[in-house]
Amino acid sequence: MARLLLGVSGGIAAYKALETARLAVRHGHSVRVVQTPASERFVGRASFAAITGAPVLLDEFESDPARGAYPGEPVPDRAPISHLALVERADAFLIAPASANTLAKLAGGHADNLLTTAALAAACPVLVAPAMNDRMYRHPATQRNLEQLEARGVTVIPPGEGELASHGEHGIGRLPEPEQLAARWEQAASRTDAWAGLRVLVTAGGTQEPIDSVRFIGNRSSGRMGYALAAGAAARGAAVVVVAANVRLADPLGVQVVPVRTAAEMQLACEAHAPVSDVILMAAAVADFRPVRPAADKLKKDRGVPTLEIEPTEDILSQITARRRSGQSVVGFAAEHGEEAIAYGRAKLERKDLDLIVINDIARSDIGFDTSHNEVTLIARDGLERTIPRADKAHVAEDILNEVDRLRSSSEGGSGGTGRTVSVGTTTV
Ligand code: CTP
Repeated sequence: MARLLLGVSGGIAAYKALETARLAVRHGHSVRVVQTPASERFVGRASFAAITGAPVLLDEFESDPARGAYPGEPVPDRAPISHLALVERADAFLIAPASANTLAKLAGGHADNLLTTAALAAACPVLVAPAMNDRMYRHPATQRNLEQLEARGVTVIPPGEGELASHGEHGIGRLPEPEQLAARWEQAASRTDAWAGLRVLVTAGGTQEPIDSVRFIGNRSSGRMGYALAAGAAARGAAVVVVAANVRLADPLGVQVVPVRTAAEMQLACEAHAPVSDVILMAAAVADFRPVRPAADKLKKDRGVPTLEIEPTEDILSQITARRRSGQSVVGFAAEHGEEAIAYGRAKLERKDLDLIVINDIARSDIGFDTSHNEVTLIARDGLERTIPRADKAHVAEDILNEVDRLRSSSEGGSGGTGRTVSVGTTTV
């Protein structure tokens, strides 16, 4: 697990930083916090200390009682020479909320408190999550500061639009929710180049097949599992395209999102991207049937009960495996009910000619569709079957990607590495 450093600057949204730190701790990370003096007016250091189990520092001249150690690490015998021990040892540094003033100082390279000094000395990924009044955020000075920081490789987590933390304020400048902040922070910390050079295609969400101008056949898929896979693959350095059917989530960091509505649109997008992809992860819930002739206007009940003629949609996954080229790994998903789930999944692996199948038991309401958690069984082409216990989808995604890695390495004769293109298909193993 990672060493995560959180920088909190002054702003009413600082309370969300507390929850962000709590989530990161709950996910097993070691978290330390530095605050600007102004931020203490909003949340006191005792709160962050209680949540992280470690002292919180505000001033570059105060000594660190933990001597640069992150929670869970032994406290060194001697105090570190530098007051920058925390940032030197961090895997990722998140500044949230990042006030307009702190952003301006970061853009200008100032080092007038522990947080700005640490940012200037950081060698790890740095993320800033601006949060402020709408006019301050839109001001050209703030926008220019953000552009400068981005140009220097800092990740800017854009604020949301809506009700701001200050009473009665509305607009853009709202700090994203703690779940999103924690996910991006963790993702930055686990960034590797293990999949550099690989192209990854992910399908996510659920397709909608129109019945008339307002109604459709759809499903409850939120796209969370697909987005977690896309984020995980991007964190490994892959170039990722996600074909997203009706997903209402923030775009994963560093991923190209292609929005689609129907199975037919998804098929077209996949046709364009699949041939150049090395790893294809088909997490979308694609409608199996669609109305043959959707009405252009709204069906009225005074016209009587309509009869819907339906036809099968394209099986995108089967088309992809039928045209599979050497070196492509294809992963399918199966939403199955109850006791027969594994047997059905295994049959689907064979029938659809997959390298790996991820089986969800949709009989359970605490996992799978439209929830943040999942528990899946993986069955690989080489017969290996493994159950991933209930965990949030980011962790499940990591396990799936690790399994893809194992399969790709083993098809290279155990030589490891994922950058080369090798076949793991049936025809040219
Ligand atoms: N899939 C696809 N195109 C479709 C239908 C499904 O690409 N038209 C993909 C899904 O993204 C998923 C896998 O195929 O990876 C699911 O297989 P499928 O056999 O269609 O699943 P179910 O619809 O659950 O099948 P069944 O009717 O056998 O329950």
